[in-house]
Formats: sequence, structure tokens, C-alpha cells
Amino acid sequence: MRALIAGTGGYLPARSVSNDELAAWKGLDTTDSWIAERTGIRCRHIAAEGETASDLGARAALAALAQAGAGVEEVDAILVATSTPDSAFPATAVRIQGKLGITRGFGFDLAAACTGFVYALGVADALIRTGQARGVLVIGTEVYSRILDWTDRGTCVLFGDGAGAVFLRGVAAEHAGGRGLLSSHLHADGRFGDILHVDGGAGSNGGTGVVRMAGREVFKHAVTKLAAAVDEALAANGLGHADIGWLVPHQANLRIIEAMGKKLHLPLERVVVTVDRHANTSAASIPLALAEATRDGRIQRGDLVVMEAIGGGLTWGATLARF
Ligand code: ACO
Repeated sequence: MRALIAGTGGYLPARSVSNDELAAWKGLDTTDSWIAERTGIRCRHIAAEGETASDLGARAALAALAQAGAGVEEVDAILVATSTPDSAFPATAVRIQGKLGITRGFGFDLAAACTGFVYALGVADALIRTGQARGVLVIGTEVYSRILDWTDRGTCVLFGDGAGAVFLRGVAAEHAGGRGLLSSHLHADGRFGDILHVDGGAGSNGGTGVVRMAGREVFKHAVTKLAAAVDEALAANGLGHADIGWLVPHQANLRIIEAMGKKLHLPLERVVVTVDRHANTSAASIPLALAEATRDGRIQRGDLVVMEAIGGGLTWGATLARF
């Protein structure tokens, strides 16, 4: 079996907040130029009071199903990548299942921070290849605004809220025409757990933990580890840099994204960038970018798309898909 990306969807909370608005709102000693020059971020969306990860994720999932022309009866499994679940349990995936009115199949959450969506794609691909599910919703949904220290200007300006989803449909390999998820390459190294972590329990219903980050340390690991994961994925499929149609990277920082483009010999026009408008939405950033680039016609059927991410754990990885 092959897992085809049959539909993509995204959802952003209504409120978009520019760097200047954020500084005034939260009383931060920062400027639009400091944030934009170092990160490329100009604004981010912030969830409304009471709006949780499952609310955002359910909307993104519906958009993905609509693009796939799939009804909820096709959904066998729901995988949610999130660091901001509604609560410790039930899983946000099962909350979303309830919101979509699905009463069969199964769902669970997966915690790999910003790498969560890449991890979840790998797991969903395995479920489909082994025949355990045929229709799988893979959702990244985050309400980071609830786990930020709004007095720490070094972290709180970097993140935003949002959700993205894909609907994967299993088809027999001989009917896939080379399309679908090709392979996922997942990595973790717990020695670096403290350079990016949440210092306590948290969830989008409330909670006490906040994001702590040693930004320069994270930066040092990012480009090397991401480039190695992408090269590993290409080599595993007998492909090279010249075969890449689109790079859809995790959207943490424009400087990391540009450096990745250079490493892969891709012009910036072949890289999907949303960090300027969404900031870092962690596990939601790749599916949000996919939703944008499939809707505006950049990603076309047959294109080879590289997805890569690094995040807390440290976790990192890359997935290749032929659309
Ligand atoms: N506005 C103004 N000044 C600030 C701000 C701010 N928002 N934040 C920090 N500063 C100040 C610091 O206080 C410090 O001042 P000092 O020199 O007087 O002590 C100065 O700016 C430099 O601080 P650094 O933290 O060293 O800034 P740096 O140049 O490293 O940039 C950044 C910080 C943008 C986070 C950078 O380290 C980076 O890009 N890291 C990559 C990690 C990343 O993108 N993380 C996102 C989440 S992780 C992920 O998704 C992979």
C-alpha cells in the first residue's frame, strides 16, 4: 500500500497580531525590526479565549477532508501532533474525532514538539502500509500562546497558534503511479532535551509550564541535522537535490529556512515560506504551509516535496512525498 496525500487543510485563529501590536499589548521591550531581521517574523495568529487545540485541529481536518473529497466515514485513524493538547487526556485526537462526529476507528496524540508532524506522517504511513488503516487524518495543532512566558522577549515573539492537516488515503502501490509518501527518516537525541523544553505540565486549557529555549544552541544544531536528514531521505529513494520540486520546511526562522535552501541548492522560489505571517506554529507549521501551497497552485500533482523539521527533544526528521 501507498499513502497518498489526498487533501490538505489549514486553520488560523481570526486574530493576527503584528510585532508592534504584540510589543504594545504585552509590554515587551522589543521592536519590529529586531524580530523581523533575526527571524523573518512579522505577525502571528493568537487563539481566542477558550479556543483549544482540538477546535483548531477539527477545522483544519474538515478542510483537508473537503479537498480530498472524502467523507468522515473514510477516516479510520486520527493522529494529532501537538505540544499543547486540550488536556492530558482524552487525547486531542479523540476530541477531534468527537467534534467531527466520527464514532469508529481510533486516534491518539504524539509528542515530538516541532517535529511532531513529520513523526506523525511516518507513523501514519506505517499504519497504511501494514493495512491497519486506510484513511488517516494527520493533524498538527498548537496553541503555543498558552505556554509562553510573556515576559521573556527571547521566546514569546517567536511563536503563533494554528493548525494544519492532511488526509492520507491508502491505495495499492501498483495504482499509485509513484505518488504518495516515499519514506520518513526520524531522529532524536535526548542529551539535548534542555535546550528547548517546557518547564512543567501544560495544555491549551491552561497549565503552568512555559517554553524555555537556548536559541543559539538550537540554531547550531538546526541546519546540519536537517540537511543530513534530507540527504538521508533522498539517498534512500535514489534521488538527488535536482529532483526536489518543493521544500516545505518547519517554519521556525527564516534564516534557518534560507540556509536549508542553500544546502539543498534550491532557489527561495522553490521553498514554501509562511513564517513571516504565521511565526512558529510548531507541529502545525508544515501542514499549514502545505495547505497554502496546494491551494495557490504552487505544489502540483507529481511534484516531489521535501518536508523537514527540528524541535524539542531534540527531535528532527525528514519526509519525502510525491504529490
Ligand atoms: N527584542 C529585542 N531584543 C531581544 C529580543 C527581542 N525580542 N530577544 C532577545 N533580545 C536581546 C537579548 O536580550 C540579548 O541582549 P543582550 O546582548 O543585551 O544580552 C540580544 O538580544 C541577543 O540575544 P540572543 O538570544 O543571543 O539573540 P540571537 O541573535 O541568538 O537571536 C534567536 C535569537 C532569533 C532566537 C536566534 O537564536 C535563533 O534564531 N535561534 C534559532 C532557534 C529558533 O528559531 N527557535 C524557534 C523555536 S525552535 C524550533 O522550532 C526549531
